[in-house]
Amino acid sequence: MKKFIIAGSILFSGLMGLAQQPLRQPAAPVAVTPISLIPAPVSLRPDGGHFTLPPVITIEARDRQDLAATLVDLVRHLSLPTGAAVSIAKVDPGATIRLIVNKTPEAVLGEEGYHLTVSPRHVVIQANRAAGLFYGIQSLYQLLPKEIESPVRVHGMVWRAPCVTITDYPRFGWRGLMFDVSRHFFTKAEVKQFIDEMVKYKYNLLHLHLTDDEGWRIEIKSLPKLTSVGAWRVDKVGTFGTFSAPAPGEPRNYGGFYTHDDIRELVQYAKERFVNILPEVDVPGHSLAAIASYPELSCTAGAENYQVRSGEKFMNWPGPVALIDNTLCPANEKVYPFLDAVFTEVAQLFPFGYIHVGGDECAKNFWEKSDAIRQLMQKEGLKTMEEVQSYFEKRVEKIVGSKGKKVIGWDEILEGGLAPNALVMSWRGVKGGIQAAKMGHEVVMSPTTFVYLDYMQGDAVVEPPVYATLRLKTAYSFEPVPDSVDAKLIRGGQGNLWTEQVYNMRHMEYMIWPRSLAIAECLWSPKEKKDWNDFARRTEANFGRMDLEQVKYARSMFDPIFMPKKDSSGAAADSLIVQLSTEVEGLDLYYSFDNSNPDNFYPKYAAPLIPPRDASMLKVISYRGGRPIGRQIDMPINELRRRAGLSTRPWLKPD
Ligand code: ACM
Repeated sequence: MKKFIIAGSILFSGLMGLAQQPLRQPAAPVAVTPISLIPAPVSLRPDGGHFTLPPVITIEARDRQDLAATLVDLVRHLSLPTGAAVSIAKVDPGATIRLIVNKTPEAVLGEEGYHLTVSPRHVVIQANRAAGLFYGIQSLYQLLPKEIESPVRVHGMVWRAPCVTITDYPRFGWRGLMFDVSRHFFTKAEVKQFIDEMVKYKYNLLHLHLTDDEGWRIEIKSLPKLTSVGAWRVDKVGTFGTFSAPAPGEPRNYGGFYTHDDIRELVQYAKERFVNILPEVDVPGHSLAAIASYPELSCTAGAENYQVRSGEKFMNWPGPVALIDNTLCPANEKVYPFLDAVFTEVAQLFPFGYIHVGGDECAKNFWEKSDAIRQLMQKEGLKTMEEVQSYFEKRVEKIVGSKGKKVIGWDEILEGGLAPNALVMSWRGVKGGIQAAKMGHEVVMSPTTFVYLDYMQGDAVVEPPVYATLRLKTAYSFEPVPDSVDAKLIRGGQGNLWTEQVYNMRHMEYMIWPRSLAIAECLWSPKEKKDWNDFARRTEANFGRMDLEQVKYARSMFDPIFMPKKDSSGAAADSLIVQLSTEVEGLDLYYSFDNSNPDNFYPKYAAPLIPPRDASMLKVISYRGGRPIGRQIDMPINELRRRAGLSTRPWLKPD
């Protein structure tokens, strides 16, 4: 990829002052941005030539409330890094950038589509609605040099965009990211930052996971203990899930919650960026923070001693089998007025038409021993614990319905029967979604196998530990519509960021980028436009933008991948053979077995490797064009042997 070309016949002033008029000066290097739009647009025609931002920019935009924040952002983007004087006019056919809302809607564009025409002197963005203009503007930013994302003035740039004609609209209306603000708390300002980052790639839904065992994060005025007790736990750092039990009386000073005013502010902030916020109150499982606040919601003796979980082990997997009862008890009549009170306030605060009611991973081992549950089963004719949960879900659905909202839940809400207009969020693979769609329910696809953003994205020996891996290339292969279902029932999809192991915003960013670029493209772009190699190139170009935005991202796609297996053709019965690869094509891998750090003067990987009998470490690094590009991975041979199902060799150190 050629990033820079030398301008030939048309020369530009480095000071930008006369950027629109050709000058007779020596040629200056001009950054030309190869087109690297993510998500890929529906159609893009390169028209040849380029447009250059002049030092005085006028924007034509009608006086519309729904464009106000977009215009503030546009003016900032165009003036701050460039130093240009930017003004807005209501009508100005000669404006540098024209934002036009169609008087007669154009069917193909729908609610979110746009036309973007970049010609030598003007940019025109046309849409049926403000959202379309907003997305057209995001595309325009990506056509300009990456320095347009600089938070400070960049001198000596020529702000060129290639001339193009784009028509673009999303494949799906539901393009979501879920942010778990319960396991670790993220402030209102941090949630706004999350929104700012997601909209650049045309996401339109933020699912906030507001309640869980580790914290209740939304003020419910009629139930004050949910936040005075339920929002706080002991502050611990390390590998969440393995922490020591909190000592009696240990300060519970980690946490926080959003007040009603905070929520209103977030909803407004999101709305101005064309994002709906989907609130989740996860019940009947994952409810320890609620029970620690109001123990009378349990059916289990001793619940009054329960505390908000601080990351200690409290569940056995697979199962789940709970070591303490973290469920709201379906047989406890106090639970339903409680939920009524919660959903009353939630429904008032969030204008989105759906409330997420969780339903996942509900441990039923305490229900199995509960007299109250046994009596409920007899009274209601319920035969299984799944039917007990289904009884609960149907009552929840009625409560949520009484507030004028529809329910969405994780795919477990299907088990034991489900109310007809419930939306199902399929997370345990796509099978829950297929089953739900076959039953006529609408579905949002968010399968662990493709979109779980808490999973490691590179090798476990170099990534912060999580129990599973999801590489960028796999995320990019996400297809939300399984062959066997009616595509109309698939509303879209979303990536989910659970935050047990995510303690801060930098790591949040590392986990969501670049996999959320892949998911964005799967949800916005036509299926036939997807192309892994081209996406990898565009992702790398977007890394340059993220660097300027000071957004952290993972470069795992450049790392070596180890594929060890038992070598059945080997001389010894326990021979290991190691194949190496990379997600991105065109990289060279160099390796060592002698514990020294390889570079491009070391052996280059060409065929599967058989480690020498006494080598304890295989070190591999990736290069491109003679320069290192991925991380060096130091892989213990015994780790490879374990992965291949071979016995480890006790003499190999370190193990
Ligand atoms: C989930 O990941 N438990 C929905």
